[in-house]
Amino acid sequence: MKEISASKKALKMEYAIRDLVLIANDYAKKTGKDILRLNIGDPIKYDYETPGYMCNALCQAVKEGCNYYADSKGQDDLRKAIIKREKRDNKISLDLEDIYVTNGVSEAIRSVFIGAFESGDEILIPGPVYPPYKSYADLLGVTATEYTCIEEEGWIPDVEDIRKKINEKTKALLLINPNNPTGAVYNAKTVKKILDIAGEHGLFVISDEIYDRILYDINECPNTANLAGEIPVITFYGLSKVYLAPGWRIGYMYKSDPTNRLERVWRGILKVLLVRLSSNTPSQRAAAAALLAPQDHIKQLIKKTKGRRDFIYQRLTEIPGIRTQKPEGAFYIFPKIVDEPYATDDKKFVLDLMKKKQVLFVNGSGFGEHGKGHFRSVFLAPIPTLKEAMNRLEDFMKES
Ligand SMILES: Cc1ncc(COP(=O)(O)O)c(C=O)c1O
Repeated sequence: MKEISASKKALKMEYAIRDLVLIANDYAKKTGKDILRLNIGDPIKYDYETPGYMCNALCQAVKEGCNYYADSKGQDDLRKAIIKREKRDNKISLDLEDIYVTNGVSEAIRSVFIGAFESGDEILIPGPVYPPYKSYADLLGVTATEYTCIEEEGWIPDVEDIRKKINEKTKALLLINPNNPTGAVYNAKTVKKILDIAGEHGLFVISDEIYDRILYDINECPNTANLAGEIPVITFYGLSKVYLAPGWRIGYMYKSDPTNRLERVWRGILKVLLVRLSSNTPSQRAAAAALLAPQDHIKQLIKKTKGRRDFIYQRLTEIPGIRTQKPEGAFYIFPKIVDEPYATDDKKFVLDLMKKKQVLFVNGSGFGEHGKGHFRSVFLAPIPTLKEAMNRLEDFMKES
Protein backbone atom coordinates (compact mmCIF):
# COMPACT_ATOMS: atom_id res chain seq x y z
CA MET A 1 0.00 0.00 0.00
CA LYS A 2 0.99 3.59 -0.57
CA GLU A 3 3.07 5.24 2.16
CA ILE A 4 1.10 7.77 4.19
CA SER A 5 2.43 11.24 3.52
CA ALA A 6 3.58 13.70 6.19
CA SER A 7 3.22 17.45 6.35
CA LYS A 8 5.82 18.90 3.99
CA LYS A 9 6.11 21.95 6.21
CA ALA A 10 6.85 19.81 9.25
CA LEU A 11 9.43 17.73 7.42
CA LYS A 12 11.22 20.92 6.46
CA MET A 13 11.41 22.09 10.09
CA GLU A 14 14.90 22.08 11.54
CA TYR A 15 16.31 22.52 15.00
CA ALA A 16 20.06 22.11 14.56
CA ILE A 17 20.70 21.78 18.29
CA ARG A 18 18.58 18.66 18.69
CA ASP A 19 18.93 17.36 15.12
CA LEU A 20 22.65 16.90 15.83
CA VAL A 21 21.90 15.01 19.04
CA LEU A 22 20.15 12.31 17.00
CA ILE A 23 23.19 11.97 14.74
CA ALA A 24 25.59 11.91 17.71
CA ASN A 25 23.52 9.32 19.61
CA ASP A 26 23.46 7.11 16.56
CA TYR A 27 27.22 7.46 16.15
CA ALA A 28 27.89 6.73 19.85
CA LYS A 29 25.67 3.64 19.70
CA LYS A 30 27.33 2.27 16.58
CA THR A 31 30.92 2.93 17.65
CA GLY A 32 30.64 2.62 21.44
CA LYS A 33 32.62 5.88 21.74
CA ASP A 34 31.86 8.54 24.37
CA ILE A 35 31.28 12.03 23.07
CA LEU A 36 32.13 15.26 24.93
CA ARG A 37 28.90 17.12 24.45
CA LEU A 38 29.09 20.90 24.42
CA ASN A 39 25.94 21.30 22.39
CA ILE A 40 22.95 21.67 24.72
CA GLY A 41 22.18 24.71 26.88
CA ASP A 42 20.94 22.67 29.82
CA PRO A 43 22.85 23.33 33.06
CA ILE A 44 21.41 20.20 34.71
CA LYS A 45 23.11 18.01 32.09
CA TYR A 46 26.41 19.25 33.55
CA ASP A 47 27.11 19.82 37.25
CA TYR A 48 24.48 22.41 38.16
CA GLU A 49 21.52 21.57 40.38
CA THR A 50 18.05 23.02 40.73
CA PRO A 51 18.03 24.79 44.15
CA GLY A 52 16.84 22.42 46.90
CA TYR A 53 14.04 24.67 48.13
CA MET A 54 12.58 24.70 44.63
CA CYS A 55 12.61 20.89 44.45
CA ASN A 56 10.93 20.72 47.86
CA ALA A 57 8.28 23.17 46.71
CA LEU A 58 7.61 21.03 43.65
CA CYS A 59 7.25 17.80 45.69
CA GLN A 60 5.02 19.64 48.13
CA ALA A 61 2.82 20.92 45.30
CA VAL A 62 2.26 17.38 44.00
CA LYS A 63 1.56 16.04 47.50
CA GLU A 64 -0.89 18.84 48.17
CA GLY A 65 -2.92 17.90 45.14
CA CYS A 66 -1.78 20.49 42.57
CA ASN A 67 -2.35 17.86 39.91
CA TYR A 68 -5.29 19.35 38.05
CA TYR A 69 -5.29 21.38 34.82
CA ALA A 70 -4.25 24.93 35.50
CA ASP A 71 -5.93 28.07 34.21
CA SER A 72 -4.95 28.60 30.55
CA LYS A 73 -3.53 32.03 31.37
CA GLY A 74 -1.56 30.59 34.28
CA GLN A 75 -2.35 30.14 37.97
CA ASP A 76 -2.98 33.36 39.85
CA ASP A 77 -0.40 32.55 42.55
CA LEU A 78 2.33 32.35 39.91
CA ARG A 79 1.09 35.39 38.03
CA LYS A 80 1.13 37.37 41.30
CA ALA A 81 4.68 36.15 41.95
CA ILE A 82 5.64 37.28 38.43
CA ILE A 83 4.22 40.74 39.16
CA LYS A 84 6.45 40.94 42.24
CA ARG A 85 9.50 39.56 40.43
CA GLU A 86 9.18 41.98 37.54
CA LYS A 87 8.72 44.89 39.95
CA ARG A 88 11.72 43.82 42.04
CA ASP A 89 14.11 42.95 39.20
CA ASN A 90 12.97 45.09 36.27
CA LYS A 91 10.99 47.93 37.88
CA ILE A 92 8.04 47.06 35.69
CA SER A 93 4.44 47.39 36.89
CA LEU A 94 2.17 44.63 35.60
CA ASP A 95 -1.43 43.56 36.10
CA LEU A 96 -2.52 39.93 36.22
CA GLU A 97 -4.06 40.27 32.76
CA ASP A 98 -0.72 41.34 31.29
CA ILE A 99 0.77 37.89 31.97
CA TYR A 100 0.39 34.45 30.37
CA VAL A 101 2.21 31.38 31.69
CA THR A 102 3.47 28.85 29.16
CA ASN A 103 5.26 25.51 28.93
CA GLY A 104 8.65 27.12 28.65
CA VAL A 105 9.54 30.12 26.51
CA SER A 106 9.39 27.65 23.62
CA GLU A 107 5.63 27.58 23.90
CA ALA A 108 5.50 31.35 24.30
CA ILE A 109 7.34 31.67 20.97
CA ARG A 110 4.97 29.28 19.23
CA SER A 111 1.85 30.93 20.72
CA VAL A 112 2.92 34.42 19.74
CA PHE A 113 3.71 33.34 16.18
CA ILE A 114 0.33 31.66 15.80
CA GLY A 115 -1.60 34.31 17.70
CA ALA A 116 -0.03 37.46 16.28
CA PHE A 117 1.09 36.81 12.73
CA GLU A 118 -0.61 36.14 9.39
CA SER A 119 1.06 34.41 6.51
CA GLY A 120 2.86 37.17 4.56
CA ASP A 121 3.71 39.26 7.65
CA GLU A 122 7.35 39.95 8.35
CA ILE A 123 9.41 39.94 11.50
CA LEU A 124 12.99 41.15 11.89
CA ILE A 125 15.12 38.69 13.85
CA PRO A 126 18.75 38.90 14.94
CA GLY A 127 21.29 37.16 12.74
CA PRO A 128 22.41 34.72 14.06
CA VAL A 129 19.24 33.69 15.90
CA TYR A 130 17.94 31.07 18.34
CA PRO A 131 16.41 28.67 15.77
CA PRO A 132 12.73 28.28 16.83
CA TYR A 133 12.02 31.86 15.84
CA LYS A 134 12.91 31.02 12.28
CA SER A 135 11.25 27.58 12.36
CA TYR A 136 7.85 28.86 13.46
CA ALA A 137 8.00 31.76 11.06
CA ASP A 138 8.70 29.37 8.17
CA LEU A 139 5.95 27.00 9.27
CA LEU A 140 3.37 29.77 9.28
CA GLY A 141 4.48 31.51 6.09
CA VAL A 142 5.82 34.50 8.03
CA THR A 143 8.99 36.03 6.59
CA ALA A 144 11.72 36.17 9.22
CA THR A 145 14.43 38.52 8.00
CA GLU A 146 17.77 38.48 9.79
CA TYR A 147 19.30 41.81 10.74
CA THR A 148 23.06 41.84 11.04
CA CYS A 149 24.74 41.63 14.39
CA ILE A 150 28.28 42.91 13.98
CA GLU A 151 30.70 40.19 14.98
CA GLU A 152 33.76 42.42 15.30
CA GLU A 153 31.87 44.64 17.72
CA GLY A 154 30.87 41.75 19.98
CA TRP A 155 27.81 40.76 17.93
CA ILE A 156 25.92 44.00 18.65
CA PRO A 157 22.94 44.70 16.34
CA ASP A 158 23.61 46.89 13.35
CA VAL A 159 20.94 49.51 13.91
CA GLU A 160 21.20 50.89 10.38
CA ASP A 161 20.71 47.40 8.95
CA ILE A 162 17.52 47.07 11.00
CA ARG A 163 16.27 50.35 9.60
CA LYS A 164 17.10 49.29 6.02
CA LYS A 165 15.28 45.98 6.30
CA ILE A 166 11.93 47.35 7.44
CA ASN A 167 9.17 47.40 4.80
CA GLU A 168 5.39 47.78 4.77
CA LYS A 169 4.88 44.13 5.77
CA THR A 170 7.15 44.29 8.81
CA LYS A 171 5.07 43.86 11.94
CA ALA A 172 7.53 43.13 14.72
CA LEU A 173 11.14 43.13 15.72
CA LEU A 174 12.84 40.53 17.91
CA LEU A 175 15.57 41.14 20.46
CA ILE A 176 17.30 38.29 22.29
CA ASN A 177 19.25 39.87 25.11
CA PRO A 178 21.50 38.31 26.44
CA ASN A 179 21.83 36.48 23.21
CA ASN A 180 21.83 32.84 22.22
CA PRO A 181 24.00 31.84 20.32
CA THR A 182 26.50 34.73 20.60
CA GLY A 183 26.50 35.54 24.34
CA ALA A 184 26.27 39.25 23.45
CA VAL A 185 24.57 41.63 25.88
CA TYR A 186 23.18 44.83 24.37
CA ASN A 187 23.38 47.95 26.49
CA ALA A 188 20.52 50.37 27.16
CA LYS A 189 21.71 52.78 24.46
CA THR A 190 21.55 50.11 21.76
CA VAL A 191 18.17 48.84 22.95
CA LYS A 192 16.84 52.38 22.99
CA LYS A 193 17.99 53.01 19.42
CA ILE A 194 16.24 49.84 18.26
CA LEU A 195 13.10 50.80 20.17
CA ASP A 196 13.13 54.20 18.49
CA ILE A 197 13.12 52.52 15.09
CA ALA A 198 10.24 50.28 16.17
CA GLY A 199 8.40 53.40 17.32
CA GLU A 200 8.99 55.24 14.03
CA HIS A 201 7.57 52.35 12.03
CA GLY A 202 4.71 51.27 14.32
CA LEU A 203 6.20 47.85 15.05
CA PHE A 204 5.83 45.85 18.22
CA VAL A 205 8.88 44.37 19.90
CA ILE A 206 9.39 40.86 21.22
CA SER A 207 12.14 40.73 23.82
CA ASP A 208 13.48 37.33 24.88
CA GLU A 209 15.29 37.89 28.15
CA ILE A 210 15.55 34.31 29.39
CA TYR A 211 19.26 34.75 30.32
CA ASP A 212 18.77 38.16 31.95
CA ARG A 213 20.79 37.58 35.13
CA ILE A 214 23.55 35.44 33.60
CA LEU A 215 26.07 38.23 33.11
CA TYR A 216 29.85 38.21 33.55
CA ASP A 217 31.60 41.57 33.26
CA ILE A 218 28.59 43.81 33.66
CA ASN A 219 25.93 43.97 36.36
CA GLU A 220 22.86 44.71 34.36
CA CYS A 221 21.13 43.72 31.17
CA PRO A 222 18.49 46.31 30.24
CA ASN A 223 14.87 45.24 30.36
CA THR A 224 13.49 46.33 26.99
CA ALA A 225 9.96 47.04 28.24
CA ASN A 226 11.37 49.38 30.85
CA LEU A 227 12.91 51.57 28.15
CA ALA A 228 10.05 51.32 25.69
CA GLY A 229 7.72 54.16 26.73
CA GLU A 230 4.63 53.77 24.54
CA ILE A 231 6.13 51.20 22.19
CA PRO A 232 4.37 47.85 22.66
CA VAL A 233 6.61 45.06 23.94
CA ILE A 234 6.01 41.39 24.68
CA THR A 235 8.73 40.04 26.97
CA PHE A 236 9.62 36.37 27.35
CA TYR A 237 11.07 34.91 30.50
CA GLY A 238 11.31 31.50 32.11
CA LEU A 239 12.73 29.19 34.73
CA SER A 240 14.99 27.11 32.46
CA LYS A 241 18.22 29.07 32.72
CA VAL A 242 18.56 31.51 35.63
CA TYR A 243 16.45 29.25 37.89
CA LEU A 244 18.08 26.02 36.74
CA ALA A 245 14.83 24.17 36.08
CA PRO A 246 14.62 23.51 32.32
CA GLY A 247 12.70 20.27 32.75
CA TRP A 248 9.90 21.97 34.63
CA ARG A 249 8.78 23.63 31.40
CA ILE A 250 7.79 26.95 32.89
CA GLY A 251 7.96 30.15 30.93
CA TYR A 252 5.88 33.26 30.75
CA MET A 253 5.25 36.30 28.64
CA TYR A 254 4.03 39.74 29.61
CA LYS A 255 2.92 42.69 27.61
CA SER A 256 3.64 46.33 28.23
CA ASP A 257 1.32 48.26 26.05
CA PRO A 258 0.38 51.71 27.37
CA THR A 259 -1.63 52.65 24.26
CA ASN A 260 -3.48 49.32 23.93
CA ARG A 261 -2.18 48.53 20.47
CA LEU A 262 -1.66 44.88 21.38
CA GLU A 263 -5.21 44.21 22.54
CA ARG A 264 -6.14 42.04 19.56
CA VAL A 265 -2.78 40.31 19.49
CA TRP A 266 -3.15 39.46 23.19
CA ARG A 267 -6.59 37.97 22.50
CA GLY A 268 -5.17 35.99 19.58
CA ILE A 269 -2.46 34.54 21.79
CA LEU A 270 -5.02 33.62 24.43
CA LYS A 271 -7.04 31.69 21.82
CA VAL A 272 -3.96 29.57 21.18
CA LEU A 273 -3.36 29.05 24.89
CA LEU A 274 -6.96 28.00 25.53
CA VAL A 275 -6.71 25.24 22.94
CA ARG A 276 -3.57 23.81 24.56
CA LEU A 277 -5.37 23.75 27.96
CA SER A 278 -2.65 24.77 30.40
CA SER A 279 0.94 24.86 31.50
CA ASN A 280 2.26 22.32 34.03
CA THR A 281 0.36 22.89 37.31
CA PRO A 282 2.74 21.65 40.06
CA SER A 283 5.67 23.40 38.38
CA GLN A 284 3.70 26.64 38.46
CA ARG A 285 3.29 26.41 42.23
CA ALA A 286 7.01 25.77 42.68
CA ALA A 287 7.95 28.48 40.18
CA ALA A 288 6.06 31.00 42.30
CA ALA A 289 8.18 29.96 45.29
CA ALA A 290 11.36 30.30 43.21
CA LEU A 291 10.59 33.81 41.99
CA LEU A 292 9.78 35.06 45.49
CA ALA A 293 12.66 33.40 47.39
CA PRO A 294 16.01 35.06 48.13
CA GLN A 295 17.85 34.84 44.82
CA ASP A 296 21.09 33.53 46.34
CA HIS A 297 21.72 30.72 43.87
CA ILE A 298 22.20 33.23 41.02
CA LYS A 299 25.49 34.56 42.42
CA GLN A 300 26.90 31.05 42.70
CA LEU A 301 25.70 30.19 39.21
CA ILE A 302 27.50 33.21 37.76
CA LYS A 303 30.71 32.70 39.73
CA LYS A 304 31.02 29.09 38.64
CA THR A 305 30.15 29.78 35.01
CA LYS A 306 32.38 32.84 34.72
CA GLY A 307 35.46 30.72 35.42
CA ARG A 308 34.39 28.42 32.62
CA ARG A 309 33.69 31.32 30.27
CA ASP A 310 37.14 32.77 30.98
CA PHE A 311 38.79 29.40 30.40
CA ILE A 312 37.11 28.55 27.09
CA TYR A 313 37.58 32.07 25.73
CA GLN A 314 41.29 32.04 26.55
CA ARG A 315 41.82 28.57 25.04
CA LEU A 316 39.89 29.42 21.87
CA THR A 317 42.01 32.49 21.29
CA GLU A 318 45.08 30.22 21.33
CA ILE A 319 43.83 27.77 18.71
CA PRO A 320 44.95 28.50 15.15
CA GLY A 321 42.18 28.82 12.59
CA ILE A 322 39.58 29.97 15.13
CA ARG A 323 38.63 33.55 15.98
CA THR A 324 36.23 34.40 18.74
CA GLN A 325 34.46 37.21 20.54
CA LYS A 326 34.17 37.16 24.32
CA PRO A 327 30.61 36.43 25.48
CA GLU A 328 29.27 38.81 28.14
CA GLY A 329 26.25 36.77 29.11
CA ALA A 330 24.32 33.47 28.76
CA PHE A 331 26.52 30.35 28.47
CA TYR A 332 27.46 30.17 24.81
CA ILE A 333 30.45 31.17 22.74
CA PHE A 334 30.18 31.51 18.96
CA PRO A 335 33.61 31.30 17.30
CA LYS A 336 34.38 31.77 13.64
CA ILE A 337 36.12 29.08 11.59
CA VAL A 338 38.69 31.03 9.62
CA ASP A 339 40.09 28.59 7.07
CA GLU A 340 38.82 26.31 4.32
CA PRO A 341 37.50 23.71 3.88
CA TYR A 342 35.42 24.27 6.98
CA ALA A 343 34.93 28.05 6.76
CA THR A 344 32.27 27.40 4.12
CA ASP A 345 30.95 24.13 5.57
CA ASP A 346 30.37 24.43 9.29
CA LYS A 347 28.14 21.35 9.40
CA LYS A 348 30.95 19.22 8.01
CA PHE A 349 33.26 20.81 10.57
CA VAL A 350 30.98 19.78 13.43
CA LEU A 351 30.40 16.27 12.10
CA ASP A 352 34.08 15.63 11.26
CA LEU A 353 35.13 16.88 14.68
CA MET A 354 32.62 14.58 16.32
CA LYS A 355 33.78 11.58 14.33
CA LYS A 356 37.53 12.23 14.63
CA LYS A 357 37.73 13.64 18.15
CA GLN A 358 34.38 12.91 19.79
CA VAL A 359 33.57 16.52 20.68
CA LEU A 360 30.14 17.85 19.81
CA PHE A 361 29.31 21.49 19.06
CA VAL A 362 26.42 22.95 17.04
CA ASN A 363 27.04 24.20 13.49
CA GLY A 364 26.62 27.94 13.15
CA SER A 365 24.45 27.64 10.04
CA GLY A 366 21.80 26.09 12.32
CA PHE A 367 21.36 29.62 13.69
CA GLY A 368 20.60 31.16 10.31
CA GLU A 369 22.47 32.80 7.45
CA HIS A 370 24.59 34.99 9.72
CA GLY A 371 25.72 31.93 11.66
CA LYS A 372 27.42 30.33 8.67
CA GLY A 373 31.12 29.59 9.12
CA HIS A 374 30.81 29.47 12.90
CA PHE A 375 30.05 26.95 15.62
CA ARG A 376 28.40 27.27 19.01
CA SER A 377 29.92 25.80 22.13
CA VAL A 378 28.24 25.66 25.52
CA PHE A 379 30.60 26.39 28.43
CA LEU A 380 28.61 24.79 31.23
CA ALA A 381 30.92 21.78 31.52
CA PRO A 382 33.53 21.66 34.31
CA ILE A 383 36.95 23.02 33.38
CA PRO A 384 38.66 19.59 33.03
CA THR A 385 36.03 18.64 30.42
CA LEU A 386 36.39 21.97 28.63
CA LYS A 387 40.17 21.52 28.72
CA GLU A 388 39.96 18.09 27.13
CA ALA A 389 37.50 19.36 24.50
CA MET A 390 39.73 22.32 23.62
CA ASN A 391 42.82 20.07 23.39
CA ARG A 392 40.98 17.80 21.02
CA LEU A 393 39.75 20.77 18.98
CA GLU A 394 43.30 22.08 18.78
CA ASP A 395 44.57 18.71 17.54
CA PHE A 396 41.76 18.58 14.99
CA MET A 397 42.59 22.05 13.68
CA LYS A 398 46.27 21.15 13.36
CA GLU A 399 45.45 17.98 11.47
CA SER A 400 42.95 19.56 9.06
C1 LIG B 1 16.97 32.53 23.66
C2 LIG B 1 16.17 31.36 24.13
N1 LIG B 1 14.83 31.48 24.21
C3 LIG B 1 14.07 30.45 24.59
C4 LIG B 1 14.62 29.22 24.92
C5 LIG B 1 13.70 28.09 25.31
O1 LIG B 1 13.57 28.02 26.68
P1 LIG B 1 12.49 27.17 27.44
O2 LIG B 1 13.22 26.08 28.12
O3 LIG B 1 11.89 28.13 28.42
O4 LIG B 1 11.50 26.66 26.47
C6 LIG B 1 16.00 29.04 24.86
C7 LIG B 1 16.61 27.74 25.18
O5 LIG B 1 17.76 27.46 24.95
C8 LIG B 1 16.80 30.14 24.45
O6 LIG B 1 18.12 30.04 24.35
